[in-house]
Amino acid sequence: MLTGKTVILGITGSIAAYKAADIASKLTQAGARVEVVMTESATRFIAPLTLRNLTGRPVVTDMFELASEFSIEHVALAEAADVVLIAPATANVIARLAAGIADDMLSCTVLATKAPVVLAPAMNVHMFHNPVTQENLARLKARGFAVVGPEYGRLAEGKLGLGRLAEVDGIIGAVEQVLGRSGDLAGRWCIVVTAGGTREPIDPVRYIGNRSSGKMGYAIAIAARNRGAEVRLIAAPASLPDPAGIEVVHVETAAEMKEAVVKAVAGADALVMAAAVADYQPKTAAKSKIKKDSPGLTLELVRTADILTEVKGDFLKVGFAAESEDVIANARKKLEKKQLDLIVANDITDKDSGFGADTNKVTLIDRNGKIEELPLLSKREVAERILDRVVGMLGKG
Ligand code: CTP
Repeated sequence: MLTGKTVILGITGSIAAYKAADIASKLTQAGARVEVVMTESATRFIAPLTLRNLTGRPVVTDMFELASEFSIEHVALAEAADVVLIAPATANVIARLAAGIADDMLSCTVLATKAPVVLAPAMNVHMFHNPVTQENLARLKARGFAVVGPEYGRLAEGKLGLGRLAEVDGIIGAVEQVLGRSGDLAGRWCIVVTAGGTREPIDPVRYIGNRSSGKMGYAIAIAARNRGAEVRLIAAPASLPDPAGIEVVHVETAAEMKEAVVKAVAGADALVMAAAVADYQPKTAAKSKIKKDSPGLTLELVRTADILTEVKGDFLKVGFAAESEDVIANARKKLEKKQLDLIVANDITDKDSGFGADTNKVTLIDRNGKIEELPLLSKREVAERILDRVVGMLGKG
């Protein structure tokens, strides 16, 4: 996604500026060419040399030194940019950008660029809530700027509040999302993805769960976002952060997931059920904690709804088949029984494809019986291959 892309990373004068080093490093590792532009006050918080070493590129701090030192025009970066990211963005830079002021290299670049701009604000909680900051952010959003964060947490003054720079992965996700605006799914498809493993309560403390990590479903949601789709993610507990730019509905039980899926598929083009949904739930969940005052305990379980089978509509249905034996035959049966367009079968006894792994080895079987066995791939790559098939089928109608 980021390979070969030119990212202008603007850094402004906030204590969170040190985190820009991590952002610069991760973007560079992901294959982007990172051109750092720092405001004068940012250089008080973090040394340009740090960024220069992390990106392997000259760091611009002074517009007037540019021509002589780097032989570049003051708008050259604006023209070269695939995306401009300002992280951290102070209240001051947000105000200057909203007013169209161009009095340093960063503000000149933003005013002159046609590339999308992502802002990651970081500031004091009162500065953030000040109506003028809110108005400025609203103006910039209305002009198409993407804004990620700020988040709630401990601020530099030692108090808790909304004003912390968003997590680095979330910021990079926002950059990927913005780059995806020109992807092959942009403006065309809306995809609902489920992920994680449902939990069926036994009492207020215990539940019946499963080993799903949520990684496969999240990878599909992120890949679809990065290709420009509108994504609705329905997540059972997964201990993964909400991906930037994706509407996430958190659920616990199979029944809650079904309710969320029914709402989400309205107007959607495809449903990808990557979640591990419980097949059984306790008939009743005890209201108070079950005490160990008897030698044994028997739980009566009843079937949950089969979401893929029961949720119907004019959208493509993609299911998963987690199997431990007769993988292809069992997956085929599921495809037919649940009337799916595509099923993704995997052997959960294989350690590279099991729960929690970052890789997966799957076989795709479509409604016409075509079988495609994929090699061992990262879950991100598997997600792309599944999406390729979804796009192919959606395209054909
Ligand atoms: N699924 C569902 N609702 C359920 C159970 C599963 O929608 N109550 C979906 C899963 O998200 C997956 C597909 O059905 O996409 C197959 O799930 P899997 O657990 O492999 O199969 P089951 O249908 O539960 O059958 P079995 O457990 O007997 O293998």
